[in-house]
Amino acid sequence: MRTARFTLDPAFTVGEVSPRLFGSFVEHLGRCVYTGIHEPDHPAADEEGLRTDVLDLIRELGVTTIRYPGGNFVSGYKWEDSVGPVEDRPRRLDLAWRTTESNRFGLSEYIAFLRKLGPQAEPMMAVNLGTRGVAEAIELQEYANHPGGTALSDLRIAHGDKDPFGIKLWCLGNEMDGPWQTGHKTAEEYGRLAAETARAMRQIDNSVELVACGSSAQYMETFAEWEAKVLAETYDLVDHISLHAYYEEHDGDRDSFLASAVDMESFIQNVVATCDHVGARLKSPKKISLSFDEWNVWYMSRTEAQVSALDWPEAPRLLEDVYSVTDAVVLGSLLIALLRHADRVKIACLAQLVNVIAPIMTEPGGPAWRQTTFYPFAQASRYGRGEVLDVRVSGPTYDTERHGTADLLHATAVRATDGTVTIFAVNRSQTESLPLEVALHGLELSEVAEHSVLADADPDARNTLTDPDRVTPHEGTGTTLADGTLRAALEPLSWNVIRLA
Ligand code: AHR
Repeated sequence: MRTARFTLDPAFTVGEVSPRLFGSFVEHLGRCVYTGIHEPDHPAADEEGLRTDVLDLIRELGVTTIRYPGGNFVSGYKWEDSVGPVEDRPRRLDLAWRTTESNRFGLSEYIAFLRKLGPQAEPMMAVNLGTRGVAEAIELQEYANHPGGTALSDLRIAHGDKDPFGIKLWCLGNEMDGPWQTGHKTAEEYGRLAAETARAMRQIDNSVELVACGSSAQYMETFAEWEAKVLAETYDLVDHISLHAYYEEHDGDRDSFLASAVDMESFIQNVVATCDHVGARLKSPKKISLSFDEWNVWYMSRTEAQVSALDWPEAPRLLEDVYSVTDAVVLGSLLIALLRHADRVKIACLAQLVNVIAPIMTEPGGPAWRQTTFYPFAQASRYGRGEVLDVRVSGPTYDTERHGTADLLHATAVRATDGTVTIFAVNRSQTESLPLEVALHGLELSEVAEHSVLADADPDARNTLTDPDRVTPHEGTGTTLADGTLRAALEPLSWNVIRLA
């Protein structure tokens, strides 16, 4: 196998990593909320019904911003149903997932959940622009954020929440380009509504940060034209535009699946180009940043039939993908893609957090455990803080059906404020170990502090209720740093974290 090479030099950087890059997503979908984070009867539940075993795992995962309450769910969401005494809250049909929503967990519980997680946990609240509009969005904002002395802020206080929620980051709807969305709109219709909503929300508080809906995927027919039309209406009023992308292995084509990040990077580049094109047309110095607020591996093709067969149950087992080592390596590669574009991607949310296409699984009344995908995310959140260095790989490539020619090595590097550097690298070869050489210029680094590897003789190995620790990272061997060159051999189909001190 040819050696893959790159050079690291602190003079060549991509940009600062936003802590919000390590966000996640809690939707009222399946068991993400109920029996995921909230299960009052569970032995580990606290006084607010939150599972403390799950809270501990979320902290270990290193999640920051948490988007809520959907997702497709938000397009039928009535925020008023989710506040006040729990026993008075109405049960509603959730059209998005053909389930019944009890509203036992709502806005106040979401904020309490974030506060329990700690100061790194930031709210990211979506407003319903599917079945609702400007009035309901500003009413929700007033209820949540106004200190007091008005009907809605006093209602929040009467409900027991004296302190305002201080929600700064708001999504203007969800996937409004998707025909599956309740209240789906054309780009012109949505662009106008998003602009009017943004204007009104800014009248309450101009310091809010607003995310306009971009495309639900790069493959959408309206992709790029949607972004251009929406931004033409909203450019001066919003801060971010959303991107969503899910990947899965199709028909056993693992080579293509392993190169999923090629699509993610091109999606990012194309959205940046579209934003900047609109900015140029408007002669605006402002840059729109990207909010990749749904991304993951999701075996979507397996779950579509599941939803249509439902008869309005409460919190059923839905989208409970059990992730393999291969899925974790792909997820690691998607994290690398986000980091490689840290100059423009300022928010990213792993969809979702618990049980629903999630890194954390729970059993009602039973334990919580880490999926394979937990590990790359936790490591990237822990060590991927600082400045991304520009990595230009030269090395072996391979051909894929879906994504053309791809590098076998996918990599990025982040330099922390203390000067340590962490390299995140994926070897996409299913069969061969990949020799790696990194030339270190202008970096005072003298030792390999750690080389952690996620790989397995069985790339389909998974963690389950009965075998929750089947897959965990192990230590890499033979990694050296001498005369300004790092040398390593990356195991086949592996996720690697190499920390240089
Ligand atoms: O995350 C699952 C679903 O995927 C979300 O509800 C929706 O926004 C997307 O299509």
